[in-house]
Amino acid sequence: MVITEKNKFNMKTKLLYLENSYQKEASAKIVAINTETPQVEIILDKTIFYPQGGGQPADTGTISTKTGIFIVSHVSYNDGSILHKGKLEGSMNVGDEVSLKIDWETRYHNMMLHTAGHILDQVIKNVDNKNYGVDGDHGIGKRTFVAFKLPVNESLIEKIENEANSIINKNLKITAEMVSEKEIKERKIKLQFELPKNKDLRILGIGSYSPMPDGGTHLKTTGECSKISITGIQEKKGQWRVNYSIEKPNKETNEKVKERKSDSIDNDLSINELKQKIADIKSQINSDLNENLTKEKLRIKYLAKKGLFNNLAKNISQIEVSKKKEAGQILNELKTEITQNIEKSAPTSNNSQKKWIDLTAPGIKPKTGHMHPVSQAMEEITQIFERIGFSRSRYPEVDWDWYVFESLNMPKNHPARDEWETFFIDAPINPKMGKIVLTTHTSNGQVREMERLGGKPPIRMINIARCYRRQQDTTHTQMFHQFEGLVIDKGINIQHLKGTLDYFAEQFYGPGTKSRIRPFHFQFTEPSLEVDFSCHICHGTGFLDEKTDKVKKVNCEAREAGLGHGEAREGALGHAPEDRRQKCKFCKSGWHEVGGAGMVHPNVLKAGGFNPDIYTGFAFGWGVERTYTLKEGLNIDDIRLLYSGDLKFLEQF
Ligand code: DAH
Repeated sequence: MVITEKNKFNMKTKLLYLENSYQKEASAKIVAINTETPQVEIILDKTIFYPQGGGQPADTGTISTKTGIFIVSHVSYNDGSILHKGKLEGSMNVGDEVSLKIDWETRYHNMMLHTAGHILDQVIKNVDNKNYGVDGDHGIGKRTFVAFKLPVNESLIEKIENEANSIINKNLKITAEMVSEKEIKERKIKLQFELPKNKDLRILGIGSYSPMPDGGTHLKTTGECSKISITGIQEKKGQWRVNYSIEKPNKETNEKVKERKSDSIDNDLSINELKQKIADIKSQINSDLNENLTKEKLRIKYLAKKGLFNNLAKNISQIEVSKKKEAGQILNELKTEITQNIEKSAPTSNNSQKKWIDLTAPGIKPKTGHMHPVSQAMEEITQIFERIGFSRSRYPEVDWDWYVFESLNMPKNHPARDEWETFFIDAPINPKMGKIVLTTHTSNGQVREMERLGGKPPIRMINIARCYRRQQDTTHTQMFHQFEGLVIDKGINIQHLKGTLDYFAEQFYGPGTKSRIRPFHFQFTEPSLEVDFSCHICHGTGFLDEKTDKVKKVNCEAREAGLGHGEAREGALGHAPEDRRQKCKFCKSGWHEVGGAGMVHPNVLKAGGFNPDIYTGFAFGWGVERTYTLKEGLNIDDIRLLYSGDLKFLEQF
């Protein structure tokens, strides 16, 4: 029997895929089979196999019985019947009950491509309401495009993509409805191309956009589609093809789809359910009116953007297309009724008789803030130095390389610069000043201050500013503060420096706090020193509750052995009887290292216009945050907390 001639036997297959495009398996009955052609042909009474058409490729899969299996390699529409073509292994006969199974992965991908095509068609219509799609391929021969009647400008690609993907993100419902040609006319559904004469008609709606005729299989919601990209626009046969692709689903995109589904729109809403919801709102407003609720409260509850009315009206897209008009009408009536009711309600909130004021009640104190702990520390540091004749200056936190490095005796490419993990600004380089950088330390203020005074001393500067370094951990933040002292005059020597440090130590950390200087190296000072302050908990001993002679003795012995204080604790005397004493956890060695200092290098004085044969100076500088967190009573393990903006933390200071 030859069945490929135009539906010779007038067989009609029920198209299950039109009703449910997610059906993967079904049973059916063979109504015709042709084993005489190279490819076996089968017609069933009903099928889930999609026949190639409307740009969508045919499904593949299997049709099986106990006696045989038919591998479906192509499916086509044959004037009302669906022709399954493929290879038969075993035997099958007319009247056999068969099990159908489609190759779901391929089908689902085809559905995504097809839906994506419709989304694009909709978006391009939105962008240019004169244009419309006239043709398309959604995977046949690996082509994916929608062809448009009028030119689509390439400059619109990004906009179209964005809108298409926003439709996906909105997870709009996609509805399919079987209709007659008459209904299509009555409902004024716009036709973009001629309708097939020999097929049942179906219309497809995306969200609340007007529906269009379509016979393919589609996703239930736009959110299931993966991201759409436009791969090009070309003119072909007088049409404008917008080629597109969809992102290959992977773990990440699957997660996104899941997310979109979970915060998805309500399920279908029937007109009766809508009427029920309207009735509920009406009874609620009546009881609210009885309660004498104020106009404002009613307005907020019912008519605000997220009020009950808008929440309900949003669901109109869930109403089946034929009932949409009615739904619109009853929603409008509801709105009018709510508005009228609100008008009738109590005039304003303060007219409410229930309101009264207790004039004897204690007032509510407004919350007052306080300065950030780091600002407090900067204030305190400024005041301490002002008391001994320093004055605060402010120099840029974005500065030339010259001030930050070069004038400080650090020529370009000098390895000492590596210490400062510098952020550079992407800006033109100045021949003298070099690049622009985010200041890595406040030492940039040294030469600037010398220039400000034009070579005339005295200088007693304290420069406090923000600094930046590419470093971040529990003891560093990329943005931090430093303060920099600079004193220049005739006859300034290292004793002035030590005296200043001791003074600061006592003033900032409390009486008895000492400073200690150790040799070090900085390019901009000679000699250079590292500065430590004695620990306020163990008073420089390294041990808790040990201010006894014994400790002093140990320190002396250590000194004699050529060791510093800290080393004495941790090194040579590790095995001494004092071992059993409890080590100070705060400092471990009796001292906290805070920063650097030294006598200003002659080259730096020269760079600032001071004659090093006449003048000398000292300088020091270190971090405000570090200095502050060493204060007694503060126990901040992670310096980054200071900039966390966490009020619970900040309010403690
Ligand atoms: N600028 C140095 C730093 O950020 C600290 C410093 C060391 C400043 C020695 C000075 C100084 O003024 O003399 O590490």
